[in-house]
Amino acid sequence: MAGRLLNARVITQSSDTRIRFRPAQLRDVILLQGLQRRCFAGSQAYGLVTLLALYFWSRSHIIIASVGERVVGCAVGDSDHGQTRVLNLCVDPDFRRLGIATVLLTSIENHFGDPFVTLMVEDKNVGAQALYRLHGYLPVSDLRNYYGRNRHGILMQLHRPTNPAPR
Ligand SMILES: CC(C)(COP(=O)(O)OP(=O)(O)OC[C@H]1O[C@@H](n2cnc3c(N)ncnc32)[C@H](O)[C@@H]1OP(=O)(O)O)[C@@H](O)C(=O)NCCC(=O)NCCS
Repeated sequence: MAGRLLNARVITQSSDTRIRFRPAQLRDVILLQGLQRRCFAGSQAYGLVTLLALYFWSRSHIIIASVGERVVGCAVGDSDHGQTRVLNLCVDPDFRRLGIATVLLTSIENHFGDPFVTLMVEDKNVGAQALYRLHGYLPVSDLRNYYGRNRHGILMQLHRPTNPAPR
């Protein structure tokens, strides 16, 4: 599946800012660690060991957005028994509301091509929830204290109907 095309490869914000999308390479992992720290507070940011484990895990896939040498966004997903999980999605604060997360999320969905896609989001993270709803994700259950004391999670799911096989 690694060779599947992303749904969009470049967003051109201005003549000197081209945002490119591609699968992560090993050399990106250090930069991804910095991105995680810029995007998530405390333990929600993936550290180097977790990122390396996800990079080498055969079931997972990491897509990054970059501007020049700078990594400005990433999505991490995995697939098991016909179900994709979006494990992580983030965009550098300097590059938000440009459609980067939209491309990353769609790219993970298309990479695996599963009929169901799930993800967890914190109940207070209304921005991310707005993004997911726009993509067709619906809340399916609440997980109390999932992110820590009084920090509740919402499990959201997308159902992507498959085209009926041609007769
Ligand atoms: C959530 C996040 C990934 C969105 O990234 P992004 O690249 O800015 O998102 P997009 O530009 O693709 O947004 C597409 C649409 O989603 C909605 N949206 C995205 N962020 C939003 C926000 N903060 N508030 C309200 N709506 C939002 C909007 O409808 C937006 O379209 P618009 O800009 O034309 O109004 C980014 O804010 C982020 O990294 N946050 C910190 C990490 C995080 O919370 N990750 C998700 C964990 S579950």
